Amino acid sequence: MVINRSVIRGVGAYLPKKVMTNHDLAKLVDTTDEWIVARSGIRQRHIAADGENTSDLAIAAAHQALVRAKIDPVDIDLVICATATPDRTFPATAVRVQAGLGVTKGAAFDIQAVCSGFVYALTTADNFLKTGQFRRALVIGAETFSRILDWEDRSTCVLFGDGAGAVVLEAEPQHGEREDRGILATRIRSDGRYEDLLYVDGGPSSTKTVGHLRMNGREVFRHAVQKISGVIEETLVATGFAADEIDLFVPHQANQRILNGIAKKLGVAPEKIVITLDNHGNTSAASIPLALNHAFEEHLIKEGSLVLMEAMGGGFTWGAVLARW
Ligand code: UT7
Repeated sequence: MVINRSVIRGVGAYLPKKVMTNHDLAKLVDTTDEWIVARSGIRQRHIAADGENTSDLAIAAAHQALVRAKIDPVDIDLVICATATPDRTFPATAVRVQAGLGVTKGAAFDIQAVCSGFVYALTTADNFLKTGQFRRALVIGAETFSRILDWEDRSTCVLFGDGAGAVVLEAEPQHGEREDRGILATRIRSDGRYEDLLYVDGGPSSTKTVGHLRMNGREVFRHAVQKISGVIEETLVATGFAADEIDLFVPHQANQRILNGIAKKLGVAPEKIVITLDNHGNTSAASIPLALNHAFEEHLIKEGSLVLMEAMGGGFTWGAVLARW
């Protein structure tokens, strides 16, 4: 059986130059490097410069992914940018990225699923490529969370950072078998009953302001391991793979303890988990492609690797993607 699969042709990432360490933060709020490392695993985060917008981060990451994929921007016909921190309320950050890269055909739009944004965006792009409506897609996760943090709230401002990552997908006919390359399965979920546990207290329609991030970390933590493990298990069942067949586990980078919990519950060996949160904190939709880029640059990922991605975020939203590189 011949089917279209979305094959990952290239990956890229960008982190702003300015680094803020835990020690820098301890001068702003009542916290310590020891507390932040012990509770989350985070050691530093990158902060976008004044005038550096989400689209600038996205364009830099996407450009690197296109160069590595050896694909010209004019051959891209779909741009999806996952972000909760757009440059403007409208138009979509994706159209600014489209123009910035010189992409002139097809469609560009944003996806808002906060930390699950990249998983949602991959799922959406994969469905367009599988149906044949588009052929080559840029899927980006880009955030400037530093702009929506309450820098006086130590329970949240120590956890997040800015960054962007991107992949180029291309539709390629495959055999519909376990050995196929590309995206093999995706699962996305949401449950709006949990909105109050993780949200931003502003918006154009409600307050006419941008607002600040608010989180009940302990409750989010409690839901994370269970919800993420569940959706991963569904993804594995759908494809017939066992957890120990995964070559690389590339999770959303929120908290080292959550990642350890998921890996233990699923039976994924600790050495297969890609961890980059120590370097950039929780970058929301950008964190999976940032980790993918790290795995690529460190040669942890190669053609044929079976890669499992997962995320959970505000909404709640959550999901998983299984792909063969
Ligand atoms: O990507 C979206 C998904 N988000 C997440 O996955 C975040 C999930 N949650 C977490 O990662 C963890 O819950 C946190 C890292 C946010 C917090 O860890 P915790 O073990 O759940 O700590 P806690 O919230 O229960 O707080 C423990 C104590 C509190 O003091 P009391 O009430 O026990 O006296 C806090 O006030 O730590 C205090 N605290 C801090 N102390 C020093 C909170 N923030 C800080 C801080 N420095 N920055």
